Amino acid sequence: MEQMPDLSVTTRHALQEAMLTPRFYTTDFKAIDALDIDKNGLRDEFEWIREEFEHDYNKGHFKRNEEFLANFDDMPVRQLFIEFLERSCTAEFSGCILYAEMVKHLKDPTMRAIFRCMSRDEGRHAGFLNKTMADLNVALDLSVLQKRKKYTYFKPKFIFYTVYLSEKIGYSRYIQIYRHLARHPEHTIHPIFKWFEQWCNDEYRHGEFFSMLMRSQPELLNEPANRRWIRFFLLAVYATMYLNDCRRAEFYQALGLNWRQYDQDVIRLCNRIATQVYPETLPVNDPLFFHQLDKAAEYDSRANALAAAGGAINQAQAARLRAGVALRLLAAYRLPPVPTTEATKWRGLEGFPNYPGPDRVTRVAAAD
Ligand SMILES: [Fe+2]
Ligand SMILES: [Fe+2]
Repeated sequence: MEQMPDLSVTTRHALQEAMLTPRFYTTDFKAIDALDIDKNGLRDEFEWIREEFEHDYNKGHFKRNEEFLANFDDMPVRQLFIEFLERSCTAEFSGCILYAEMVKHLKDPTMRAIFRCMSRDEGRHAGFLNKTMADLNVALDLSVLQKRKKYTYFKPKFIFYTVYLSEKIGYSRYIQIYRHLARHPEHTIHPIFKWFEQWCNDEYRHGEFFSMLMRSQPELLNEPANRRWIRFFLLAVYATMYLNDCRRAEFYQALGLNWRQYDQDVIRLCNRIATQVYPETLPVNDPLFFHQLDKAAEYDSRANALAAAGGAINQAQAARLRAGVALRLLAAYRLPPVPTTEATKWRGLEGFPNYPGPDRVTRVAAAD
């Protein structure tokens, strides 16, 4: 990477690309513009969710209070917390930019309005995180990221699969932390976690839109090759989180969480939610599934330790372990998927706006 002496350490860090870091995406906007979103009779659902977004439920939510101005110099895991803010901010900003690009390129007024609202929400989330970082005297320059960060190209369907899951796993991650800290307030190492409940509703709503978008294009869900892609993206999203969080066990410990239990709960919830749209999901209740993920995480930590120690032999061994990570993930991918049935399908979230489904029947389910 070129030298960037004028940038803050955090901005430079956020510009780096690695397998597990948050990415910026671009896609074939013309192809998305050419989609016939009316072909499956979902226009009224799109209109409905546009109205939901335009309500702007969280307009006044993202305002820091005096608690944010306390001195956090001696807070536990300060550096890991800053990294958490940086990664979250980069991911939120990535959504903000992608959705803003959709507004620029799409002609359908409903789609434009929806993406404008989602970009508004993600911009607000990124801004809130960014200001929280500034309170801790950490500068992350989002305009530099926008200009200099590498953009990964994904075909539209891959964008839909991956962004849908990012929204739903984002919801699942935030709500699990929020509920845990509501039960154990002594682990609230920073006030930002108190904002997560309403915040995650934004992510849940965004995910609902992508679920509609995929339902409007049934071949994305039904063709055998696409089903394999769906499983691939489910695993990619789950495994990325698992390996990332394993590397940050100390951060979760400071919140009173065991990272592994937390991740497994998040994955189980996200996998249940994904049955709302995906015809099959991953067998997360098969003990072999998390066994493979645990092995992958173990190889990853050993590989990182060896790579950090340096030396040719260690590097070679680290490379072998990384190949082992890939093999374990492949083994998890090969486990028989769980077909979604009417009985197992996610029906919606209690206490949350009930989106009209294809049957136009109000759907609610407990979301414990
Ligand atoms: Fe967000
Ligand atoms: Fe979102």
